[in-house]
Amino acid sequence: MHKGSRKIESGIFDEYTKKNVYNLQSKGYFDTLDYPVSTGKEADVFRGTTSNGEFVAVKIYRVETTRFKKMIDYLMYDPRFTGIKETKRGIVEAWCKKEFRNLRDAEEVGVACPKPIKAFKNVLLMDFVGDGKGNACPKMKDVLKKLENPEEVIEKVKRYIDLLYKEAELVHSDLSEYNILIKEEEPILIDMGQAISVKHPMAKEFLERDMRNIDRLSRKI
Ligand SMILES: Nc1ncnc2c1ncn2[C@@H]1O[C@H](COP(=O)(O)OP(=O)(O)O)[C@@H](O)[C@H]1O
Ligand SMILES: [Mg+2]
Repeated sequence: MHKGSRKIESGIFDEYTKKNVYNLQSKGYFDTLDYPVSTGKEADVFRGTTSNGEFVAVKIYRVETTRFKKMIDYLMYDPRFTGIKETKRGIVEAWCKKEFRNLRDAEEVGVACPKPIKAFKNVLLMDFVGDGKGNACPKMKDVLKKLENPEEVIEKVKRYIDLLYKEAELVHSDLSEYNILIKEEEPILIDMGQAISVKHPMAKEFLERDMRNIDRLSRKI
C-alpha cells in the first residue's frame, strides 16, 4: 500500500473508521487514500485511487461529532429506513446508506450527481467528480461569476429539483451553490445524505427553501 495513505489513516481515523477503510481496500474497492478534498463537521471527503489508477471519492462520516438529533429527524418518515439502531454508529451507518440510496435514486431519474459505488458502515464510495487532472471540480459558489452561461446552469439545477421531486420522490433539502459542483459548465448535485422522501412532513418546506436558494443565484451572477 501507498505510504502516504497509511499516514493519513493512522493519523486521523479512530479504530472503527480505520477498520472500515481497510475493509473496503482489502476488497479492492480502492487502493490508496490520496489526500483530503474537504474536511467538514460531519464528514471528510478524500480522493482515493483504485488499482487501475482511477479516482474515487471516499466520504467518511464522523461518528463522534455528528448531529444525531438532526439525523434522526431526517431519517424519520422515510419508508426506506425502518428499525434503525439508535446508537451513534447505527444512526451514522443508516445516514451513510441513505446518502448512497439517494444518490442512486437521483442518478436513476437522470439527475447529474456522483454515481455511488458502495456504502459500508460510515464510509461512502462514489465517483470522483474531477477535472481530468486529478483535482476535484469546483463548487458552484466559487465559479458562479466565471460561468459562460450561468442562467442555463441555474435552469438545469431547477430541472433537477423538479426531476428529483416528481420522479425520484426526493427533496435534496440542502441545495445551494455549496452543494453543486461544476464540471465543464454542467451542474452536478452532491451531498445527498439529508435528502428526504416527499412524504416527510418537512418536504414541502425544504423544497421551497431549495428553490429559493437557487432562485437567489440569479441575482448573484
Ligand atoms: N464525488 C465527489 N467528487 C469530488 N469532490 C467531492 C465529491 N463529493 C464531495 N466532494 C467535495 O467534498 C466537499 C464536501 O462534500 P459534501 O458531500 O458536500 O459533504 P459535507 O458538506 O457534508 O462536508 C464538496 O464540497 C466537494 O468539494
Ligand atoms: Mg456539502
